[in-house]
Amino acid sequence: MTKEIVHIMNNISSWLRYQKQLGVEIIPKGPELSAFLNHCVKDETSLQGLTATREYGDEIPITTGLDELRKMIENCNRCELHKSRQNIVFGEGPEDARLVLVGEAPGREEDIQGRPFVGPSGELLTDMLNAVNISRKDVFITSVIKCRPPHNRTPGHEEIAACSSFLSHQLRLIDPPFILALGLVAAQTLLKEKAPLKSLRGRFHQLGNARVMVIYHPAYLLRSKGSWQRELKRVAWHDLQILEKEYAKYR
Ligand code: URA
Repeated sequence: MTKEIVHIMNNISSWLRYQKQLGVEIIPKGPELSAFLNHCVKDETSLQGLTATREYGDEIPITTGLDELRKMIENCNRCELHKSRQNIVFGEGPEDARLVLVGEAPGREEDIQGRPFVGPSGELLTDMLNAVNISRKDVFITSVIKCRPPHNRTPGHEEIAACSSFLSHQLRLIDPPFILALGLVAAQTLLKEKAPLKSLRGRFHQLGNARVMVIYHPAYLLRSKGSWQRELKRVAWHDLQILEKEYAKYR
């Protein structure tokens, strides 16, 4: 079998598992499935994204522990964000956490305190975790980039690239069986994907030794309004429950 066919089969099986989780039992070959199959063949990025195993970056020597890594980031000036930051936000939690949460970037409150998810979206995140019996103190929480972008704008590609080996190294050292990607930036960065969040969420993706679940970012849930917000929260709750069911086996 060629590599490409293996890629396509992995994509199809991942998509079918997702459909099963949604309760779908019969798949007619309608336009949606045809479009999906075409997408598999044409889009190399998505082929890489959904297939079995990707390696973490190797740039930082494995002998570099978390404390040393934190010092490296404190001294980092790889991108312009070091000029405006008050603090780096390295992340926090047990070094042997079985679940690592990856957000997008520190916000205002995180920049002031140097701690992840301590602002309004952090409050919602803590409530969401509690709702599925996951204790915040048991998980390691970090973000794709470690310095706050001015006005909380979305981090640029160069900023993400400059920071990516730090996140890779954190994941390599902690080596969790589960990762929860919060929002599109975390999902696309971790999975090397370009697909929209709605097609990535709600199912596990394999990344090295870890299974990655993708959910909507709490800040996005907070920004949404009315029935749309209720729907997004319902979906996030559904996705967290899938994660919790598997994570519970490792606790
Ligand atoms: N949003 C993130 O993605 N990370 C934080 O630390 C805070 C808000």
